[in-house]
Amino acid sequence: MCGIVGYIGSRDSQGILLEGLKKLEYRGYDSAGIAVFDGRKLEVRKSQGRLANLEEKLDGQPLRGYVGIGHTRWATHGKPSDVNSHPHTDNSSKFSVVHNGIIENYLELKAQLAAKGHQFVSETDTEVISHLVADLYQGDIVQAVQAAVRQMRGAFALAVLTEYEPDRLIAVRYASPLVIGIGNGENFIGSDIPAILEHTRDVYILNDGEMAILTSNGVELLTTDGNNISKEIFHVDWDLLTAEKAGFDHFMLKEIYEQPRAYRDTMMGRVIEGTEEGSLKVQLPEIGMTDEQLRAIRNIHIVACGTAHHAALIGKAVLESLARIPVETDVASEYRYRNPIITPETLVIVVSQSGETADTLAALREAKRCGARVLAITNVVGSSVSREADDVIITQAGPEIAVASTKAYTSQLIAFYLLGLYMADKRGACEQAQITMVLQAMQQLPEQVEAILSQANVLKQTAQALVKHQSLFFIGRGVDYAVAQEGSLKLKEISYIHSEAYAAGELKHGTLALIEEGVPVIALITQDELYEKTLSNIKEVTARGAYVFGVINSGQESEISQSVDELFAIPQTLPLLTPALSVIPLQLISYYASLALGNDVDKPRNLAKSVTVE
Ligand code: G6P
Repeated sequence: MCGIVGYIGSRDSQGILLEGLKKLEYRGYDSAGIAVFDGRKLEVRKSQGRLANLEEKLDGQPLRGYVGIGHTRWATHGKPSDVNSHPHTDNSSKFSVVHNGIIENYLELKAQLAAKGHQFVSETDTEVISHLVADLYQGDIVQAVQAAVRQMRGAFALAVLTEYEPDRLIAVRYASPLVIGIGNGENFIGSDIPAILEHTRDVYILNDGEMAILTSNGVELLTTDGNNISKEIFHVDWDLLTAEKAGFDHFMLKEIYEQPRAYRDTMMGRVIEGTEEGSLKVQLPEIGMTDEQLRAIRNIHIVACGTAHHAALIGKAVLESLARIPVETDVASEYRYRNPIITPETLVIVVSQSGETADTLAALREAKRCGARVLAITNVVGSSVSREADDVIITQAGPEIAVASTKAYTSQLIAFYLLGLYMADKRGACEQAQITMVLQAMQQLPEQVEAILSQANVLKQTAQALVKHQSLFFIGRGVDYAVAQEGSLKLKEISYIHSEAYAAGELKHGTLALIEEGVPVIALITQDELYEKTLSNIKEVTARGAYVFGVINSGQESEISQSVDELFAIPQTLPLLTPALSVIPLQLISYYASLALGNDVDKPRNLAKSVTVE
């Protein structure tokens, strides 16, 4: 996730681009850069780190010109650095490009262009686009961009500027957001509305496969195939803060709704066609371990904190069942002090959204000190964890702003599924047909999440009823128990209602004493093999007066409805994949409970997004 801006008009563009980027910094702040046509040539300035670094650079050497593009980066391909910053140019420096998204086939395109003599300076996928456009340019930038787009696979929002045609600016959207602001004698490009809201309230919202040609005096809209289109102007009547949340009341809700996109992006480029017709497999070029090293792993320790630790619990189930490797999980603050038994055949996996959590980082260092190879699953390229680990899988959740983690957690689950299948394949632990089956089911998850989100209103009512209680319980078995733990944490951290997650079968050994008339119990019952056992545990609590809300698989409504007071059905998927769906209603219940209680949803009391103290 990155932010892009563009300006063409009669005002100095530098200030307008920087102001726009400031509004987009929430989309990433690994580096920033702008390219401006100064009347003679394209000039580029870029700098690693926050926008302030770029501003400092520009203070001494401002760029003057009436047309330009800008970018704020959330690193995906290549570490945060000056050279990996956007805008990227071709070898002649006549074409500049800013990009938000991922070009899945960039290595292939890069090799083709390199064979033609193009020289690349960065590790990014974006640099390939500037070279490709330059390569295809025959005097018309629109045609060159269209031809380039035809060769590109993946997700992208682009702004392209060439010094050959400085009177027009090109914007393209394919699966990454992009809006065009319509001004008077000037026009704008932005990744979202806040970036341009200061200048205009009239916008075109581009759809996938659409592009815009901006001049100072107008905007022409067409498809990337070259057909003209007309579009209604969208008049924005939100204030700036609402606009930053894309119309959602809170960042948490926005992030919950971003999950289908985050699932797709985390899988993008990693799920590929297998050798047999119709088969699928996982590629993880970011893992440097040889097949021999992967086969030599005898045991795995997964270490993390908070919500990331709850993802680790699912990771354990995934790696054990798919790759058949014994896994232990630990909270990071315990791991380093328990003198863990690490052998040369131990792989340590650390999971951290921010990549900066002090306990997780300390555990990583301890594992390395003991000689383990460390693989990190993190959301932040260039974070301490990503720099110190031997192998890094980046989740593509994009910046998470709400303290309560949602899309980062589910993207970590997707990363674990991919890793489990990858290891299973390398170690011969799964048949190709099974790998294909799991991947096909995974590809349906984004739409299934959308189906759950469309029922948010039902969950809002459930939440409003729950907030009348002082205390409640979450129960489940197997991966349902792991999801119960995440659901319980989510609820307590933002609603401040006491809750406990319990392994459903363990209740009778003590906690059952706390169940009395009317106590709410949220029961997850999605695992076919454990169905009857969990149902018996539900009966144990209903017999003592509990009010049970069941999260079940669709298709089982009629048989379970007699055993619970209320239920919510998730779409059918494979048992191992249910956590990627069953957690969504729990996130929404927590959100609406917090809202009903009038709490600060995005910034709950006593908590911080990234905890850099031990
Ligand atoms: C804090 C946050 C949690 C998060 C945990 C681990 O406690 O409030 O939401 O799960 O840190 O953070 P990490 O960035 O390492 O995933």
